[in-house]
Amino acid sequence: MAQKRPPNSRGYYVKMKLLHKHGRPHHHHQQQQEKNCLYRYYKWVLWLSLSLYFFTSYLISNNNNNNHHSKQPSHVSRALMESNHTTPPQQQALNSLGSLKNLKVFVYDLPQKYNTDWLSNERCSKHLFASEVAIHRALLTSEVRTFDPYDADFFFVPVYVSCNFSTVNGFPAIGHARSLIASAVSLVSSEYPFWNRSRGSDHVFVASHDFGSCFHTLEDVAMADGVPEIMRNSIVLQTFGVVYDHPCQSVEHVVIPPYVSPESVRDTMENFPVNGRRDIWAFFRGKMELHPKNVSGRFYSKKVRTVIWRKFNGDRRFYLQRQRFAGYQSEIARSVFCLCPLGWAPWSPRLVESVALGCVPVIIADGIRLPFISAVKWPEISITVAEKDVGRLAEILERVAATNLSTIQRNLWDPVTRSALLFNSQVQKGDATWQILRALSEKLDRSFRSSRVSRQLDFDT
Ligand SMILES: *[C@@H]1O[C@H](CO)[C@@H](O)[C@H](O)[C@H]1NC(C)=O
Ligand SMILES: *[C@@H]1O[C@H](CO)[C@@H](O)[C@H](O)[C@H]1NC(C)=O
Ligand SMILES: *[C@@H]1O[C@H](CO)[C@@H](O)[C@H](O)[C@H]1NC(C)=O
Ligand SMILES: *[C@@H]1O[C@H](CO)[C@@H](O)[C@H](O)[C@H]1NC(C)=O
Ligand SMILES: *[C@@H]1O[C@H](CO)[C@@H](O)[C@H](O)[C@H]1NC(C)=O
Repeated sequence: MAQKRPPNSRGYYVKMKLLHKHGRPHHHHQQQQEKNCLYRYYKWVLWLSLSLYFFTSYLISNNNNNNHHSKQPSHVSRALMESNHTTPPQQQALNSLGSLKNLKVFVYDLPQKYNTDWLSNERCSKHLFASEVAIHRALLTSEVRTFDPYDADFFFVPVYVSCNFSTVNGFPAIGHARSLIASAVSLVSSEYPFWNRSRGSDHVFVASHDFGSCFHTLEDVAMADGVPEIMRNSIVLQTFGVVYDHPCQSVEHVVIPPYVSPESVRDTMENFPVNGRRDIWAFFRGKMELHPKNVSGRFYSKKVRTVIWRKFNGDRRFYLQRQRFAGYQSEIARSVFCLCPLGWAPWSPRLVESVALGCVPVIIADGIRLPFISAVKWPEISITVAEKDVGRLAEILERVAATNLSTIQRNLWDPVTRSALLFNSQVQKGDATWQILRALSEKLDRSFRSSRVSRQLDFDT
């Protein structure tokens, strides 16, 4: 790994950029001339210029890709070279990430034991904590990625901690998370100067399980352990978020949605006409009995899910199921209201699936802080029911159905909203990774590069 900046790297990047810039106008100019000569044979001209246009745009996009490849300096390992640099299907989307304030992110090339080794288990990139994988992958091919760490605003540390699945119950064991991350930090801080330079404050981690970077599945233990010392100056992308003070969010962080595979959503949409009739009124599938939370300072005696089950199981309007069912997304697509009660943690993948499949989420989790509030107008697309009111659920939903349900459904059906919570394998404008990048672009005061640039500007003027 390079500790010193290669002396002429900057000139090299500039050259590549210039080449890229001059490609298109030249071809258009040529096209224009041909047009003038042949204007009388307009059909031929039309045909010719169309073919020329498609041919040149094909060349241009291919060139872009080659540039992209040749940008990789030699210190990038084979693992990264081999990771999927296939032709981006939407050059358009990649070139229009827009409004990210010229953000640059450097992705550390860590040994595979920190990340890609875990992918040998197929679940690793698909389960509800898989945003740690998805964000890493999307960044690798993103326009914001820089291969020059001296040019970076933020440093992404790709450690997958959620894929040590228990052979007994299938849950991820995260006992090793602290030591794995500490080991990664020790590596990057000894081999690169950037961690020490900022004490990690421009470094970004993902902590996608129940209680963020507290790395424990039981809330009281998580709270007692707190955020590891080593991460406390950094930025954590975490699914956990509450509106009150909580030791597991006492670190600079961005609340992100849990991972739901965009492919699974697409498949469900294709097989079930989602804008067709919804024959289930209120839907919930999942465990109905959870231990009441018993956390020092915040005692929850109400067992929200148990109340729902006891009170509404016999009610024809409610479709409540306790068993796992692989095809549950089709049930969401058939439902008007989808119940999203808190479980172990306040957040739930149901929230993402409901939004993506057009079922009005009914959020029953006091104090939950939802992801991407600047992009997703949660109050306009969901119903919030206080935990203490869960016994009146039917009454509350009936009132919504009689008054503003169609407004809420229309708001929910906005494609901008439905795509904001999904992580695509390549960043698309407005998707979940893009929302994260935008949130980071609001934190440029932490960027060493940007503070230097602005100091330079102050000096110049
Ligand atoms: C690259 O794609 C192939 C197939 O699409 C997949 O098996 C492999 O795991 C991917 N590699 C990475 C690093 O994402
Ligand atoms: C995975 O979890 C088990 C406990 O379930 C633990 O014994 C093992 O050391 C963990 N593996 C790693 C690599 O941390
Ligand atoms: C960063 O600081 C640590 C602890 O003080 C030290 O061991 C390490 O060598 C430093 N890294 C660099 C690149 O100087
Ligand atoms: C809750 O925890 C306290 C101690 O932290 C304990 O005394 C009490 O019995 C617990 N209550 C339940 C219902 O488990
Ligand atoms: C719908 O009506 C309920 C009251 O029944 C209200 O709390 C909620 O804000 C309304 N939502 C929208 C989007 O108008």
